[in-house]
Amino acid sequence: MKLIPKSVAEMVAVGLLPYPVKSIEEHKGGLINHTFKIVTKNDSDPNFLLQKVNSYIFKDVDLLQSNIRIVTDYIRNELDKQSLPNLNRRVLSPGCILSNGECKSYYWDHDCDYWRLYEYIEDSKTYNSIPNNDMAFKGGVTLASFHKTLLGFPKDKLPDIIPNFHNLKKRIESLMVKIKDDKFGRVTNAKKEIEFINDNIDEYVKLHEILTSTNIPKRVIHQDPKFNNILFDLNDNPLCMVDLDTVMVGHLYSDIGDAIRTGANSTVEDNPDLNQTNFIFEIYQSYINGYLSIAKDFITLNELHSIYISPLIMTYEQSIRFLSDYINGDKYYKYKTEYPDHNLVRAKNQIRLFEQMVLNREKLKDTVIKFDPSFF
Ligand SMILES: Nc1ncnc2c1ncn2[C@@H]1O[C@H](COP(=O)(O)OP(=O)(O)O)[C@@H](O)[C@H]1O
Ligand SMILES: [Mg+2]
Repeated sequence: MKLIPKSVAEMVAVGLLPYPVKSIEEHKGGLINHTFKIVTKNDSDPNFLLQKVNSYIFKDVDLLQSNIRIVTDYIRNELDKQSLPNLNRRVLSPGCILSNGECKSYYWDHDCDYWRLYEYIEDSKTYNSIPNNDMAFKGGVTLASFHKTLLGFPKDKLPDIIPNFHNLKKRIESLMVKIKDDKFGRVTNAKKEIEFINDNIDEYVKLHEILTSTNIPKRVIHQDPKFNNILFDLNDNPLCMVDLDTVMVGHLYSDIGDAIRTGANSTVEDNPDLNQTNFIFEIYQSYINGYLSIAKDFITLNELHSIYISPLIMTYEQSIRFLSDYINGDKYYKYKTEYPDHNLVRAKNQIRLFEQMVLNREKLKDTVIKFDPSFF
């Protein structure tokens, strides 16, 4: 196990955590932040999840923390109106860090890194991949319930924490700049992947324009709904969605597409053996069935007709993001890049997944169309 960073030990030593601490261990999940579980000494005190915020991605930590606070408060209030029990297990509870006698939502250490706390939700687990169709259905239900709970959230109160997060055109432009600069001399290693991106630009930029056109509503969405951002209890009942850093106003297609991209891959995102990367259609089908079993109450016909294309768009976008980060020297995924070609391997894996999805395109559509009332 890696050593606990000095700043974590430092935080504990100067008493910035609200309770006496028994132990700190690194939490392996997640791709963005650096996460630790803090076990407190007294059984009556909650345990905590301590996270170092990836400050390359999240430049405005005040805004980040404030967005998370207003979203979690809103969800708690909505669930409370439904008189649901155990609210602290159904929504994240941001914790308090003590600084000069004040309760703050984050701590800035001597290395200019930011730290924040959540109450640890006990007896919970996440899955890095979707274990079976039944769990895929539950995943879809959980994401749709998250969207449904936030339907009434005042969208103007939620500034973009990462502007243009799913702006495909901008992602492509940014990739082209990085290719031109080639600061790390990596472009020659990625010739084939760059060619793949170029070959598909016209079609996918056009599709993206349709999916974000004015007749598609904007909604408050999660923006990183991978399966390991759903917390389940020990009996596999969904508890809540975690990792709310990127909750922003956007379009449903991106959440659904990203959930499928990450959930219907037959292998891990960084498997270098591309023959093991296949698209599991049945996972897509179950997830969509679960999603639409709830979302049929609020999804518009235009949204419904567009979402079958969303896994393709999001997988294409993610190929661009991994490729960009590889060419740019692994800045975005810096905490989870373990060897020099890691992000190139991830990009190759996404491209292969995309190609497998293309083979299933008609079936993707059929699954969704069944939910159109005029289909009958
Ligand atoms: N409040 C919580 N209680 C228990 N486990 C949690 C909690 N929040 C997150 N986790 C676990 O920690 C992992 C990493 O946290 P997450 O916020 O998703 O970080 P990242 O942005 O790096 O993905 C999650 O996948 C989940 O397993
Ligand atoms: Mg996560």
